[in-house]
Amino acid sequence: MLALLLSSLLAPLVAGQAAGTYQTETHPKMTWKQCSGTGGTNCQTVNGEVVVDANWRWLHVTGDYTNCYTGNKWNETACPNNDKCSQNCVLEGADYSGTYGATAGSDALTLKFVTQGSYSTNIGSRLYLMKDSSSYQMFNLIGNEFTFDVDVSQLPCGLNGALYFVAMDSKGQGTAGAKYGTGYCDGQCPRDLKFINGKANVEGWKPSSNDQNAGVGNRGSCCTEMDIWEANSVSQALTPHSCDSAGFQECTGDACGGTYSATRYAGPCDPNGCDFNPYRLGVTDFYGKGKTVDTSQPFTVVTQFVGSGSSLSEIKRFYVQDGKTIAQPEPKVSGITGNSITQAWCDAQNKAFQEDVYPFNDHGGMASVAKGLQRGMVLVMSLWDDHYANMLWLDSNYPTDADPSKPGVARGDCATTSGEPSQVESQSPNAQVKYYNIKFGPIGSTFKQ
Ligand SMILES: *[C@@H]1O[C@H](CO)[C@@H](O)[C@H](O)[C@H]1NC(C)=O
Repeated sequence: MLALLLSSLLAPLVAGQAAGTYQTETHPKMTWKQCSGTGGTNCQTVNGEVVVDANWRWLHVTGDYTNCYTGNKWNETACPNNDKCSQNCVLEGADYSGTYGATAGSDALTLKFVTQGSYSTNIGSRLYLMKDSSSYQMFNLIGNEFTFDVDVSQLPCGLNGALYFVAMDSKGQGTAGAKYGTGYCDGQCPRDLKFINGKANVEGWKPSSNDQNAGVGNRGSCCTEMDIWEANSVSQALTPHSCDSAGFQECTGDACGGTYSATRYAGPCDPNGCDFNPYRLGVTDFYGKGKTVDTSQPFTVVTQFVGSGSSLSEIKRFYVQDGKTIAQPEPKVSGITGNSITQAWCDAQNKAFQEDVYPFNDHGGMASVAKGLQRGMVLVMSLWDDHYANMLWLDSNYPTDADPSKPGVARGDCATTSGEPSQVESQSPNAQVKYYNIKFGPIGSTFKQ
């Protein structure tokens, strides 16, 4: 009786993605600024910290150095199914610079692409901004402005230095919680996560054919995604993705849709987005090395979310470089006018690019993005290469077999043969991105227009 009682009391503690005890988890500190007033003159420093996502961490058997997951395969003894695996395996603390190539210093975060560690080679990373050691910093973007400086000069074709927001839960998931970077979700309903909602994703797992570290499980993790910045030194995009429900929603198999499913448009989220990429909109001389926004030097990126309450009317963008404010350019594609994203602008893009599907509107468009934003979102900073489409959707002609003169096909100067991960990893291991000087506050409070 006592044993039964004890085991039922203890069960919730051991089940569900717990943390191990071999390496203390110490989050790198990173400050940012909360602004009020106008013109960036009244900003208070906030002491934050960052955490690396759980998927990058060492996962091993409790009280034992045996791996639960190695390369792109699970240990079938420790992980015969989702429930057993969740009970048997724990997540470890991280060596941020040594293993993951992530270093924070005062108000900056630098992410290196390839890091040769003592046990393995790490490729890219994904980190979240935290409020304290066990909860993510939540941002309510509507009516506010998010500003940061970025150095993309060391990011070649095929890489994506992404700064964005997703509607994750502030406490993360499982017993390990936000402290160990759990709870990720986004508009692709990712199925490459080893754990979702505190439970392993081993059932149905298929190791990737071209990624030594990744695979795809049967479960996926969906939520609204607001891509403030997906970029390298050649191209960049500002992209909201809509979802049927604002916060975390689990999905199963190909019904997840997105990048990881055979049926891209079958899921509850919009995997494509309503993207504002100046090059794709015909303004090919705007962004890049030596162009109007010169990517050989750092610059400031300002994004304004015009609206109030649960209503988001417009997403506006400015850049600041060498003390000069630069507006987002006017599109040069026939049928699309306006240099900011609105529902009408997305409708015009849908028509002008004549795409077969426009999932952004199928999942509620700007109105559903607004619901995600109003819920509160977590800031993600990442660096990645693309094992599915070589990042050509961002920086080259895509689809690669389409006529590049057709509106919407050309997205950047990169060759259609570029961006192949094994090539990018061997040719540009030292690529890196630096995000810094983050400021947040009501519209007009973070910079002088
Ligand atoms: C798998 O895990 C078991 C313990 O659950 C361990 O005995 C075995 O050595 C592991 N196998 C590998 C290949 O790591």
